Amino acid sequence: MEMTKRPRRLRGSMTLRKMVRETRMDKASLMYPMFVMDGENKVEEIPSMEGQYRYTVDRMGECLQELLDTGVTSVMLFGIPAVKDEVGSQAYDDNGIVQRALRYAKEHFPQMYLVTDVCMCEYTSHGHCGVLCDHDVDNDKTLELLAKTAVSHAKAGAQMVAPSDMMDGRVAAIREALDEAGFTNVPIMSYAVKYASAFYGPFRDAAGSAPAFGDRKTYQMDFHNSREGIKEALLDEEEGADIIMVKPAMSYLDMVAKVREQVTTPIACYSVSGEYAMVKAAAKMGWIDEERIICEMAVSAYRAGADIYITYYAKELAKCMDEGK
Ligand code: PBG
Ligand code: ZN
Repeated sequence: MEMTKRPRRLRGSMTLRKMVRETRMDKASLMYPMFVMDGENKVEEIPSMEGQYRYTVDRMGECLQELLDTGVTSVMLFGIPAVKDEVGSQAYDDNGIVQRALRYAKEHFPQMYLVTDVCMCEYTSHGHCGVLCDHDVDNDKTLELLAKTAVSHAKAGAQMVAPSDMMDGRVAAIREALDEAGFTNVPIMSYAVKYASAFYGPFRDAAGSAPAFGDRKTYQMDFHNSREGIKEALLDEEEGADIIMVKPAMSYLDMVAKVREQVTTPIACYSVSGEYAMVKAAAKMGWIDEERIICEMAVSAYRAGADIYITYYAKELAKCMDEGK
């Protein structure tokens, strides 16, 4: 038999396989989501996310140092305030939890790139991502508060803001407010293609941000839709988003690949809390090889077209990358 093409020829040794790899990972693309909470001298493990913690500001340095030691140089901060109210006032309070964390991190860890999640759900008593009018989120009223939050974060030292609320028009509103306040160089990473997903469950435990009634389906996207994701991505790019995010990662990599073809911005891909929890749980049972699984998950996101990978496994992945896995 004559066979001129033998794909196996390029799989003959580790050296060769690594030589011809199409996708290479780089620690510079990793971003670590981190929870900061009110209070003093506390580090609390998150029950549904074993190995992930909530830190008070005075203890967050332990985590930041570990990240820097492994070569992870960017974090996305989520705040857990001591008090919540109807209008989420702690979100845009210049002395709010994220604002204090930013000032601390900026002073003690100037090498760390500081990104903030901009949303209301961790700060509202009802747990929705905006202010309510009757039983639904009032889009346009929420825009003002999101813009205020973004400016307050920038003032406290945020180098990039990442709105995750899914209100219409929020990128334009935030861009305008940032520019007016003099923060023309603070980029916006928009959670543009964000689905209403059960994969956020453990995060809502961690942040105490589950909606008190109803769900987020009137603002986050229906997971049956793909063209709608392109619409969201294009709109946000037009409104001035500097980076477009797709979220969750694992079940949504088709969207990463599609959005990659449609926008010219970098693409971020967020492997969310539920993905982390599933891997952790199965690994704990001894049913999967955790390290190999997280490498596969990360590579698949990059292979689909992600430039930035946001993951609770950032430290572990950084180590895998050092070892050329
Ligand atoms: C806030 C926000 C959420 C996540 C990121 N930003 C929760 C939600 O939308 O309910 C999810 C992150 C994760 O699950 O890891 N809106
Ligand atoms: Zn929210």
